[in-house]
Amino acid sequence: MSFNIAIDGPAGAGKSTIAKRAAKELGFLYVDTGAMYRAIALGLLRKGTDIESEADLSESLKEIEVSLDYEDGVQQVYLNGENVSDQIRTEEVSNMASASASKPEVRAKLTELQRGIASRQSVLMDGRDIGTVILPNAQLKIYLTASVETRAQRRYQELNLKGENCSLEEIEKDIRERDFRDMNREAAPLRQAEDAVLIDSSHMTIDEVVAMIVRLTVVNRQ
Ligand code: DC
Repeated sequence: MSFNIAIDGPAGAGKSTIAKRAAKELGFLYVDTGAMYRAIALGLLRKGTDIESEADLSESLKEIEVSLDYEDGVQQVYLNGENVSDQIRTEEVSNMASASASKPEVRAKLTELQRGIASRQSVLMDGRDIGTVILPNAQLKIYLTASVETRAQRRYQELNLKGENCSLEEIEKDIRERDFRDMNREAAPLRQAEDAVLIDSSHMTIDEVVAMIVRLTVVNRQ
């Protein structure tokens, strides 16, 4: 039987780095659902879709197909057959992903795909609504968060390393806006599932959080 781990939390809490490492240690498939929302967002941006127009959004979604594959164990996301794993990491796509993820039609498109993957194997899936909506029966649920200041600082360093010009204030403002949208939207808002374990990573190292998740998995599997 597959054992599923759901990790939810706001942007920049370190979810993907931590989830990737924990999945590797546990031998689970890592599924980054944010990448799927980002791929749809890139498709919508390329089409110049007005996401506030139901008809326009619906038309565009018909022509957007998202799929996942793994290369050497690393998740790759495809938009209509094109590998867009690198192109989805811009601030423009981040903002469009957050805005379009509030649309029920966008969420419905990904729900089935995500549940299907988790039904076939043990996964560690990260996102915003995994423990609450996608995998309500996940055997382990984690809500991973950190203070806004810590998350902005981390994102700033990450972008700097990539050589992207950015301002810390702008990033912090973007994070606050995205948090607000993710937590206050009607469709599957970001919130901690009642049975999720809360981990605040503000004062923890990546290693410490990974070790904690691995420990919790071992305990819950017994
Ligand atoms: O985790 P991320 O930053 O790559 O996610 C991009 C956006 O997608 C984020 O603003 C919220 C949205 N998202 C979502 O609504 N539900 C998920 N399961 C994953 C991401």
